[in-house]
Amino acid sequence: MFQHEKQQYHDAVYWEQRYEKQPEQFDWYYAYEDLIPQLSFVLHKNHKVLCIGNGNSIFPVQLYDSFGITNIIASDISKVVTQQMNSKYNKQGLVFEVDDATSSHHASSSFDVVFDKGCTDALQTGAPELVQKVIDESHRLLKTGGYFLLISFGVPYKRLHLFDKEKWDVGIRKLKETEYNEEDYFCYFCKKIQ
Ligand SMILES: C[S@@+](CC[C@H](N)C(=O)[O-])C[C@H]1O[C@@H](n2cnc3c(N)ncnc32)[C@H](O)[C@@H]1O
Repeated sequence: MFQHEKQQYHDAVYWEQRYEKQPEQFDWYYAYEDLIPQLSFVLHKNHKVLCIGNGNSIFPVQLYDSFGITNIIASDISKVVTQQMNSKYNKQGLVFEVDDATSSHHASSSFDVVFDKGCTDALQTGAPELVQKVIDESHRLLKTGGYFLLISFGVPYKRLHLFDKEKWDVGIRKLKETEYNEEDYFCYFCKKIQ
């Protein structure tokens, strides 16, 4: 990937054009099967889940079909990918919608889990000042006791300081290497404590 392309990862226009050219399903970093053994201890079938910056990841579809969570919103800044996902998947209780992870239209304290795989990393690459906004917005959207699950290439010393210790209790797991992922990836389990 060229550096000038990465620098546009915060830009909605960049993603619109990319999804028009590349509508094929693609999951960044890890597939559902890789992640679910790590995440399942914080997930429950009754949870209301928000997947931010979902793109055309099928993680929420598999969460619905395989895990049995039937109250999921998968949002993205891109209208193009949201239309593509809505035309591919039609399941009651799984909604693909346009929303900005830095400033969501959803009500406060309305989700049990906010899931992010690659959205804050995209912003970190293009406009790092927006990462804190996503974390603060996720805090607003979560119920107390809910989890922000962040899958990221960001090493702990570059991410942990963004989580206010008065508001979050954060655990970290290093994720396994795969043939596609030679770098280290982490799952941050960020529990909203107040
Ligand atoms: C690296 S991709 C990750 C896609 C998907 N989560 C995955 O795991 O395959 C980053 C995604 O974040 C979306 N995005 C970028 N800025 C955003 C924002 N402010 N709000 C919501 N989504 C955003 C992009 O449109 C893109 O789909």
